[in-house]
Amino acid sequence: MNILITGATSGIGKQVAMDYASEGHTVIACGRNTDVLAELEQRFPNNIAAQRLDVSDADQTQQALAVYTDVDLVILSAGVCEYVDIDRFEAAMFERVFEVNVFGMMRCVEALLPNLKAGSKLVFVGSTARLLPFTRAEAYGGSKAAIQYIARSLQVDLEPKGIQVLTVSPGFVETPMTDANDFEMPMRVSVEFASDRIRKGIRKGTTDITFPTVFGWFLKLMSRLPQSWQVALSKRMA
Ligand SMILES: NC(=O)c1ccc[n+]([C@@H]2O[C@H](COP(=O)([O-])OP(=O)(O)OC[C@H]3O[C@@H](n4cnc5c(N)ncnc54)[C@H](OP(=O)(O)O)[C@@H]3O)[C@@H](O)[C@H]2O)c1
Repeated sequence: MNILITGATSGIGKQVAMDYASEGHTVIACGRNTDVLAELEQRFPNNIAAQRLDVSDADQTQQALAVYTDVDLVILSAGVCEYVDIDRFEAAMFERVFEVNVFGMMRCVEALLPNLKAGSKLVFVGSTARLLPFTRAEAYGGSKAAIQYIARSLQVDLEPKGIQVLTVSPGFVETPMTDANDFEMPMRVSVEFASDRIRKGIRKGTTDITFPTVFGWFLKLMSRLPQSWQVALSKRMA
């Protein structure tokens, strides 16, 4: 397969890129960090081609990605996380988070979609954070709820073209993103585990690849409770 992965310079995207490369697939690894991109190309000279990409730059994203006309699988993993300080509420922080997590992903779709063929897969890395109103997660959880809705609508509109749209909803994964967190992260899994579950889910065509399983089930069940119960539950977890 020809696989294009954003966010391939760190964490989940990097592990998935290396694992697909090890399996013999051709990977276009995208990200801003040119040192890591060079390291990936050096480590997998026959399987990884690096593509410098800043998804917050619309023109650069279009120019960089529109040239890929033979991609079987797209994994949009580039993302950022910031938490709200309720005493210093900052709209600009929402802009920063949505810029990458939502608009950045849409810029990638705009550039790649015209060349995606029937049988290809488009995968959005979301988060289980979308499922409950977690404390301080207004921007991050909001961006992931938005991407989940967009992906679900795309599932409807791209099905007639034979393009399968999948979402990934991870719980906590050990990456530089969560290393920055100062709170307890239940059931945090390794990046190798995450990559394994993502690749298996993509192979099976699982619509929403959620892991770890028990954590995901618990949050999905909670998300069906009345809103007042969800808020009460999140207050207890805060
Ligand atoms: N870790 C978790 O527990 C967890 C849980 C649920 C969901 N997720 C989601 O999983 C995805 C990957 O997260 P991670 O934990 O692997 O994070 P990470 O280690 O911090 O990696 C984030 C990646 O996003 C890229 N990125 C950020 N801003 C970018 C930009 N403007 N343009 C292009 N690339 C950009 C970074 O690359 P450069 O710096 O090279 O640009 C990096 O490769 C994210 O969408 C995140 O929301 C993570």
